[in-house]
Amino acid sequence: MPATCVIGLQWGDEAKGKVVDVLTQKNEICVRYQGGANAGHTVKFGGQAFKLSLIPSGIFHHNVKSVVANGVVLDPARFLEEIEGLTSRGVQVDADNLALSNRLHVIMPWHFLEDRIMNSLCAHEPIGSTMRGIGQCYRDKVGRSMAFRLGDLYLPSFPERLKEVTQIKNQYLYGMNPDGGKEQVSYSETLEKYTAYAEKLKPMVTDTTAFLLNAVDADKNVLFEGAQGALLDIDHGTFPFVTSSNSSGVGVCAGAGIPAKFVKNVVGIMKAYTTRVGGGPFPTEQDNEIGQKIRDAGHEYGTVTKRPRRCGWFDAVAVRYTSRLSGVTMLSLMLLDVLDQMPEISICTAYEINGERTTDFPALVEDLYEVKPVYETMPGWMSDTTGCRNYSDLPDNAKRYVERLQEIVGAKVGIVSVGPDREQTIFVN
Ligand code: GDP
Ligand code: IMO
Ligand code: MG
Repeated sequence: MPATCVIGLQWGDEAKGKVVDVLTQKNEICVRYQGGANAGHTVKFGGQAFKLSLIPSGIFHHNVKSVVANGVVLDPARFLEEIEGLTSRGVQVDADNLALSNRLHVIMPWHFLEDRIMNSLCAHEPIGSTMRGIGQCYRDKVGRSMAFRLGDLYLPSFPERLKEVTQIKNQYLYGMNPDGGKEQVSYSETLEKYTAYAEKLKPMVTDTTAFLLNAVDADKNVLFEGAQGALLDIDHGTFPFVTSSNSSGVGVCAGAGIPAKFVKNVVGIMKAYTTRVGGGPFPTEQDNEIGQKIRDAGHEYGTVTKRPRRCGWFDAVAVRYTSRLSGVTMLSLMLLDVLDQMPEISICTAYEINGERTTDFPALVEDLYEVKPVYETMPGWMSDTTGCRNYSDLPDNAKRYVERLQEIVGAKVGIVSVGPDREQTIFVN
């Protein structure tokens, strides 16, 4: 059973980091394969909390190799900072337990400027990006001529190419925002910085595609850590209010360079309710005291940007869609304890769009904005679940909620989480 994937089934922040940490115990390799420093994954154990952005959440386990694969877009400064932060807290992060793909694309200084200008120029609802230059780096990857892969930083031609691209980018930045004439990138500073980053990263840089192909051929257990969530998938999410990579289950093979036949287990991560950061439609949003109660109980503020997360009821139409899309073999239901004090809990089981009822997730955001959610309401359990460690410890109404969700979504719940700590995890059966 070589490959297991952990995939967020909503709009991100489903607690993938926690599940990856828990499941890494059974794996030898842990891989991040898409996204970048837009991700913020939290791992808690032994009274400590760690926030990870680019480094795989399996890093805390001995004898596990962590891999940052080709599909990630890497901000070298943040990556080095993250390593420093972890090592200063006694976590091993070095070339012995972490490998970086020489194929992955590097975020360059102009990507941050472009991200900011783009978000401010558009008059319509902004995407509300994390300002990490993610979309701009992926755009250059697809456009090819302006892109830098990590391996490029070591080529003798790097300074010359950097000079050429910096000139073109400065013209482009000026064209985007002539009033912001100061928003230009210095070639010499960039060369100096990126040469220094390359030197520091060098011991970790390798052909991770070859490494992973050898690993799956040798039947090693590999865990793939998705970032973001399937509703933010560039192809299958709520476009254009998405991120710029394939963040649903379909992204694993391209992002890591392994064939689909090795992907045997797909763990779909979902909160017991729904959250979203940034712009875009959110049919079950509760922009009221219910949403605020969820936000308070779940501490729903962004890990990366600290923005308050938009909160609402569980959307089973959306999750059934993303679970099928991602080929989920097991569900992991997170943050169930956040609903402990809800007298009644609603689940959206269908959408009504312009008078028509459907259980299919629409392709167009224009339709999603029109959705009237059809709710089913269940009684809450009004008791503390954070101490439960076995499925049988859960109150009956909580079990009924779990079972109803798995019935509508169409996959079995194998893990229930009742708190942020590693220990607050229930394995069902
Ligand atoms: P990720 O991006 O999917 O890894 O999720 P985030 O780390 O951004 O957000 C999840 C938040 O929920 C983190 O603060 C976790 O520590 C916390 N968390 C994880 N599981 C649980 C849980 O079962 N209950 C509660 N109350 N918090 C949880
Ligand atoms: P994790 O891995 C939640 C959202 C942003 C914005 C949109 C595009 O922690 O679940 P981008 O910077 O990618 O161009 O932003 O996507 N977004 C996330 N929301 N969790 C994330 O990651 C996210 N990564 C990006 O808020 O709406
Ligand atoms: Mg997060």
